[in-house]
Amino acid sequence: MRVLILGGYGNFGQIIAQHLHKIAGIQLIIAGRNLVKAQQFAGKINAEAIQLDANQTDLANILKQQQINLLISTAGPFQGQNYAVAKAAIEANSHYIDLADGREFVCGINILHEQAQQQNVLVCAGASSVPGLSSAVINELLPAFSELRIIEIGISTSEKIPGKSTIEGMLAYCGKPIKQWVDGVWQNRFGWQNLSTHQFSEPVGKRSVAACDVPDLSLFPEYYKGVNTVTFSAGTGLKLTHYGTWFFSWLIRFGIIRKPQKYAAILHKNSLILERFGDGNSGMYIQLTGLDKNKKPLKLSWELIASANDGVNIPCLSSVALTRKLLTDKLVARGAMSSMGLLTLDEYLAELAGLRITTKLHELYPFS
Ligand SMILES: NC(=O)c1ccc[n+]([C@@H]2O[C@H](COP(=O)([O-])OP(=O)(O)OC[C@H]3O[C@@H](n4cnc5c(N)ncnc54)[C@H](OP(=O)(O)O)[C@@H]3O)[C@@H](O)[C@H]2O)c1
Repeated sequence: MRVLILGGYGNFGQIIAQHLHKIAGIQLIIAGRNLVKAQQFAGKINAEAIQLDANQTDLANILKQQQINLLISTAGPFQGQNYAVAKAAIEANSHYIDLADGREFVCGINILHEQAQQQNVLVCAGASSVPGLSSAVINELLPAFSELRIIEIGISTSEKIPGKSTIEGMLAYCGKPIKQWVDGVWQNRFGWQNLSTHQFSEPVGKRSVAACDVPDLSLFPEYYKGVNTVTFSAGTGLKLTHYGTWFFSWLIRFGIIRKPQKYAAILHKNSLILERFGDGNSGMYIQLTGLDKNKKPLKLSWELIASANDGVNIPCLSSVALTRKLLTDKLVARGAMSSMGLLTLDEYLAELAGLRITTKLHELYPFS
């Protein structure tokens, strides 16, 4: 299987490539706008390298010439991006998977459904922590509930700063209104505001998290019928970065900063300097509240704890697990869809082997 990673030398692209490199039967092609960077990284993992811009008009032809079977795109930000790359993949008869966290982008991908079905390919958006892993956890825990009412998801990263694309994506909604489904009505929260705290297990401990915009906020109220609240919050383990972003969100909200994405490069550079002050720990939680089979209150809290900065693998492993499934013909879905429900939790967790990452399920009954 010839797998091209667009953005393959970027932050998450490199991690995906390193995982896929270990799977027999995959020939990797590292692509991006900078050929030197692509070649340098490809050389380390015995991959091929090509220069490719997501916006070039002959993308489909190049994918055909390169005989690509699967294109994985990390070339964000996906907020405001069109579907040109996915369309080119379909035209070239190649499967397509991306790491998109843009709400509109992921929720609108089904516009390509018919085209993808006609070509017998899978087009999958949002193969990452959300909604890839988050939906896998919910689907695993769902049978314990007769009624599911509340879904609360949160992530606190370590000090490791993601790539510029991730920061640009976050700045697209930072300080701006975000619609969240709360108590059965759409309510406004503000990007990187509405701070709350979450008590993770040790060694992560108590962390502050803020409202963030993700596809799950639209997908889950629609898919998990009867759910009256879906929230998502995130933050970083480094207080200075976390509260600094919160402060920045107010400058955007007050209209003092009008084009926040302009600041992505400088924020990225400065945040990297602060990485040395972190503890390497990160966590994710998914809390489900509702009624159990006997109509008694039930609250389940699934938690993932990562140390030694291994948490950076988490957004990458949905795409790795999906690639493995495609390679072994275990993923038969064709058409265009979000990553919701394409992986079981076990399939995702199998990719964690060798990493300093543990998961736990806490049963909080009655409510706490
Ligand atoms: N759903 C989730 O849970 C989740 C979580 C975290 C991150 N993400 C997504 O992951 C994406 C990647 O994040 P990252 O931290 O890896 O960012 P990154 O380090 O900036 O990587 C982006 C890569 O894409 C390449 N690229 C950008 N524009 C391109 C274009 N027009 N054509 C070809 N290549 C292009 C970049 O290289 P060049 O600029 O040199 O071309 C770079 O290699 C983010 O955009 C974010 O949306 C999703």
